Amino acid sequence: MTRYVRKLAKIIVRPFLMNRYVRRVLAFWLYRQSISHSEDMVALLRSPDELDDSYWMGKLRQYAHMVDKGLHRGDFSKGHGTWAYGMARDALAHIRSPEAMGDPSIQWSVRKIRQYEQYQASDLPGLTSEYIRTTCNHEQLLDAIKTRRCIRRYLEKPVPDALVEKIAEVVDWAPTSCHRQPARVYATNNPYIVRKCTELHAGAACFTDIYAPLFLVFCADARLYAMPTELFMPCIDVALGIQNCVLVAHTLGLSLTPLTWSYRKDRHETELRKLLDIPTDFQIVVGAVGGYPNGGVEVPPRKNRELFIRK
Ligand SMILES: Cc1cc2nc3c(=O)[nH]c(=O)nc-3n(C[C@H](O)[C@H](O)[C@H](O)COP(=O)(O)O)c2cc1C
Repeated sequence: MTRYVRKLAKIIVRPFLMNRYVRRVLAFWLYRQSISHSEDMVALLRSPDELDDSYWMGKLRQYAHMVDKGLHRGDFSKGHGTWAYGMARDALAHIRSPEAMGDPSIQWSVRKIRQYEQYQASDLPGLTSEYIRTTCNHEQLLDAIKTRRCIRRYLEKPVPDALVEKIAEVVDWAPTSCHRQPARVYATNNPYIVRKCTELHAGAACFTDIYAPLFLVFCADARLYAMPTELFMPCIDVALGIQNCVLVAHTLGLSLTPLTWSYRKDRHETELRKLLDIPTDFQIVVGAVGGYPNGGVEVPPRKNRELFIRK
């Protein structure tokens, strides 16, 4: 039976799909959800008065980073980077709360603005700083990377807040485009809410009826990106941070399993936002369920290296 269906598909469907107009209509239909999500992003564009400190902090980091790169240039010369400097000052002027001003990334940004002014007013050469080497050796890092596993059965043991904080702490230590640091982590270590969050993820089929003590939702501040040219950037930025989190969780004896969010329906998104108080400005990148592993899994081997070096 399947053989006939396949044969029929080959004779009728494939030639039909080769028609570019048909493919165009099909593409529109298949991408309708992605298009609607991108439209949501554009709809997030707000007037400056509606934007809060966390938005301006992201913008300030972005422009201070550009200023900093300019100051570190090997061929540094005065008079460049005035636009980024102006934008950084403008973002700084919008920040209101003392907590925001006390944030280390904001203090760094303010220092960059001052440094820029100092360098414009003097004949100093470009900035130089010492390269700091890690004390973690290659074997140790490789061991953490390769022994980390996605485990889907957990011990009935709660995960304390202190450990959740340790995991979330490293999300911003990954590289981010223009140093925006867009990540925000919404977490719960209440098994009842964990279960509800897990059930909203289509890929969590194998977790049904299994106790899980931790759920994290990794989000990106979507307001920091100019859509649609940077459509994938929020996910790239946050995904790099997620790898930090899963590795740190592993060093703490915990396993985190990301759960795909691509197959969600609108009602799942509404429900998840309600459960963890996630504002619409923050794009949900992926959820992750976790806990202390109850046993391991067979290691899924990695394919042979695909590396092409041109000499
Ligand atoms: C973006 C993303 C989505 C994933 N979604 C699911 C999922 O929905 N359900 C699941 O059980 N595992 C999910 N995983 C985990 C992968 O199945 C797992 O990483 C892969 O099988 C390799 O296993 P390992 O992480 O133990 O090496 C996901 C991983 C990523 C990075």
